[in-house]
Amino acid sequence: MSDESLTPRTAAVIPAAGRGVRLGPGAPKALRALNGTPMLVHAVRAMAASRAVRLVVVVAPPEDATGVKSLLADLTLPERTDVVVVPGGATRQESVRLGLDALPDDISVVLVHDAARPLVPVDTVDSVIEAVRDGAPAVVPALPLADTVKEVAPNPPGDAGAPEPVVATPERSRLRAVQTPQGFDRATLVTAHRAVEADGEGATDCAGLVERLGRPVVVVPGHEEAFKVTRPLDLVLAEAVLARRRANDGF
Ligand code: CTP
Ligand code: MG
Repeated sequence: MSDESLTPRTAAVIPAAGRGVRLGPGAPKALRALNGTPMLVHAVRAMAASRAVRLVVVVAPPEDATGVKSLLADLTLPERTDVVVVPGGATRQESVRLGLDALPDDISVVLVHDAARPLVPVDTVDSVIEAVRDGAPAVVPALPLADTVKEVAPNPPGDAGAPEPVVATPERSRLRAVQTPQGFDRATLVTAHRAVEADGEGATDCAGLVERLGRPVVVVPGHEEAFKVTRPLDLVLAEAVLARRRANDGF
């Protein structure tokens, strides 16, 4: 038996079904181009770059699922990597659950990676997988914060722009900004998703669901190039990162 046949099989689920409201009008965010290539294609390549990843499940905007299928069918990926496309849901959590439903039985480690983080380096992906293989049920890459964070009493909707009272200032050195891919023991992640479906509550990331179960979640170092493309300025930054890579790699 080869070593690889003894190691847990890993899949990456890529939620890509969001509209990208904060990016402004245009195609769904995952299909917007960075230097001529859709963000989703960069994200799929970033996952397939890891030797451990054997399957990528793309959760597409429901109305664009056919287009996404043909876009990805034309892609040249390492031979070890299969790609499956499923239609997404109304929230990220719902989209991730639909992606999890598409996993074959032999997958035991699952990464969940935002299509909106197209430039995550392979070393970050590999370090998340390694931490799961070493026994952590949930692993998130994260970075210390540059900005001080204030907790406020938010204005009621419709009163945006009015001054908001500050309630607290958490100690910055104890805070981390979390990224993706987040890595999970499959059974833990599926249980966490079922539990929130039952009690109707949500979380803004998958690891938050695992925390609700009371299971341990650990942080490994993230990477500045794993930032999320959220607002128009992030497109400028992403294209600059790609240009710098091109200049450094000569391709
Ligand atoms: N996502 C998804 N299904 C949804 C909503 C979001 O698969 N119903 C995905 C997005 O495509 C993205 C990731 O979740 O890759 C992170 O979400 P976010 O950055 O918030 O993207 P959008 O929801 O598309 O952006 P916005 O919130 O500005 O509309
Ligand atoms: Mg969103």
